[in-house]
Amino acid sequence: MNKKEDFKFHVKRERPEDIYQKASDYFNEKKVKEYSTSKSMMRIQLKITQRALEILKIRNTNAIILDAGCGPGYSSFFLKELGYRVVAIDLISEFFNYFNINIINPVQCDMTHIPFRPNFFDGIISISALQWLTNNLGKHEKDESVKFLMKRFYEILKPQSKLVFQFYPKNSQILEKLKKIIISNTNFDGGFIIDNPESPKKRKIYLELYKNS
Ligand SMILES: C[S@@+](CC[C@H](N)C(=O)[O-])C[C@H]1O[C@@H](n2cnc3c(N)ncnc32)[C@H](O)[C@@H]1O
Repeated sequence: MNKKEDFKFHVKRERPEDIYQKASDYFNEKKVKEYSTSKSMMRIQLKITQRALEILKIRNTNAIILDAGCGPGYSSFFLKELGYRVVAIDLISEFFNYFNINIINPVQCDMTHIPFRPNFFDGIISISALQWLTNNLGKHEKDESVKFLMKRFYEILKPQSKLVFQFYPKNSQILEKLKKIIISNTNFDGGFIIDNPESPKKRKIYLELYKNS
């Protein structure tokens, strides 16, 4: 990782991942339904997906893209409409009961234990999910999960391919810890892209990682 990041921030507002250990503890039936049927959520997540794709820069529409933590599938569906081949995974299969995602055949699995073979994907995106793994970085078990995830995501990407995570880290120290894990465990190049850094409401953080060889 070669991009320097010296932007400091700290989010005071408590987020679900500060309160609940795992996404599956937070997303009960009611929450899944609320999230999956919200038009405004769909609009917001689509906007983020468009920006992630801009960073991913995949031109070949025959490319195969992994959507990690797909939820109801707003991003997956959008990618599919653009002509990409999409593999959608999420921890919580109840999300798949909404929004036509079943035409993509989503897979229920934990993104820290993905079952795909090496050099398979032309690109990976993950929208608003990684914070469930990075919120407590510095704790052994979280560090191990993120380490494992980064190593596996590196393996399953084809050479000269990218992954883009959009997520909600609590503060800039998380970015530093995450960066350290990536540098120590993979050969990814890349760094963080921060849109609207000065506005806590509009700020969006993307992690862009490139597999050279
Ligand atoms: C806020 S939702 C975002 C869903 C979707 N990406 C979107 O943009 O609408 C976060 C998603 O991450 C999923 N998630 C969290 N931890 C996960 C893990 N370890 N493996 C797979 N999915 C996970 C949750 O189940 C949830 O669907």
